[in-house]
Amino acid sequence: MANPVRVGIAGAGFAARFHLHNLRRVYGVSVEIAGVTSRSLASRGAFERDFAVRSFDSFEALCDAADVIDLCSPPSTHEELAIKALRRGKHIIVEKPFTGYFGSGTPDFRGNSSPKEPMLRHAIESCNRITGAAHGNGRMICYAENWVYAPAIQKECEIVEKSSGQILWMIGNQSHSGSHSPYYGIWSYSGGGSLVGKGCHPLSAALFLKRAEGSARAGSAIRPATVSARTHEITRLPEFRDEGHLRRGYKDIEDYGQMHVTFSDGTIADIFSSELVMGGVSNWLEVMANNHRTRCQLNPIDALETFNPKEDAFRDIYLTEKIETKQGWSHPAPDEAWQHGYPQEFQDFMESISEGREPLANADLARDTIATLYAAYVSAERGGTETRIPE
Ligand SMILES: NC(=O)c1ccc[n+]([C@@H]2O[C@H](COP(=O)([O-])OP(=O)(O)OC[C@H]3O[C@@H](n4cnc5c(N)ncnc54)[C@H](O)[C@@H]3O)[C@@H](O)[C@H]2O)c1
Repeated sequence: MANPVRVGIAGAGFAARFHLHNLRRVYGVSVEIAGVTSRSLASRGAFERDFAVRSFDSFEALCDAADVIDLCSPPSTHEELAIKALRRGKHIIVEKPFTGYFGSGTPDFRGNSSPKEPMLRHAIESCNRITGAAHGNGRMICYAENWVYAPAIQKECEIVEKSSGQILWMIGNQSHSGSHSPYYGIWSYSGGGSLVGKGCHPLSAALFLKRAEGSARAGSAIRPATVSARTHEITRLPEFRDEGHLRRGYKDIEDYGQMHVTFSDGTIADIFSSELVMGGVSNWLEVMANNHRTRCQLNPIDALETFNPKEDAFRDIYLTEKIETKQGWSHPAPDEAWQHGYPQEFQDFMESISEGREPLANADLARDTIATLYAAYVSAERGGTETRIPE
């Protein structure tokens, strides 16, 4: 593709801001931010003002000005906007979750009590519709799963590939004290709770590493085969004693999820996610292999340890994501975007679009992640019964 690559951002909230920041860090490929659109005039106006990015009042107008559409809008919008952009000949970047099931459109829909088999079927069909639209016109799908690009995961990938290691068991987690987005907590926007919103990250990283292991040793990806899962709604329990530190009041989602995944070679991964954990975001994946053991720490890391005796003294200093207090000992992130893999992610996306090659985080990984997550909901509905993940 001829330079520059013109990127249009859909959505002007939290994710749009860090996407813009990291797109502006790309080197070697000329990237132009074509503009931004969002459903709310106020949010796109603020984005234009704060970051000197032109705002468009329609998605179609944004598409006309861009080569790539970067979806930073709520999960419920991903399929429709992705297909619209692909049909207009645009490459797409899609935030997690790639897509999902968002209800029947009726006001009485409640995701937590709705049957999960149809959700699994619909979510996979949704993936297929998006990938079908891309295959039809040779456009690129970049799945914005930053964990794939986190330096800790990339180093472990190198260890597995170059040592011909076999990963036997992984255990991973993403948890914090509750998502900020007003769309989160309402299944018809978010497509699920902790499993879909947070578990997707360590899950995709685990799936990515097994794909890499299989490709390095035998030339083909090792895929997820079955999942057993549990979900809980802890902050909704009548016995929950609210001290004001955890977000609560989710409409119809779980705030705790656990998945036990088996792969086609019989090896396993245990993935946890929740809205119940204080002390900042907790992002890690531990790998037990036949020839090594690795702890991939994404956040917090201990590159820096700071003691602050007075909360107010650090008022204007960013420490780390979702930390509740800046007083006492903390682990300020020297470059949080880097340790989360964001600049590396956008570097790969821009290079892959520019060179016409697949990105590391691609549609196959996105689709396996969605199939595993929604098969996990089927399992949880059955009290944790082992459930086959559709091919
Ligand atoms: N990878 C990560 O670390 C990470 C972190 C946070 C969020 N996310 C993902 O990013 C996406 C956005 O989340 P967020 O936290 O930025 O939410 P947000 O609520 O902060 O922002 C959402 C934005 O989308 C806009 N919007 C709503 N409907 C739209 C539509 N139909 N067309 C265009 N814009 C629309 C809203 O006006 C708002 O500006 C979600 O898919 C979320 O899961 C990823």
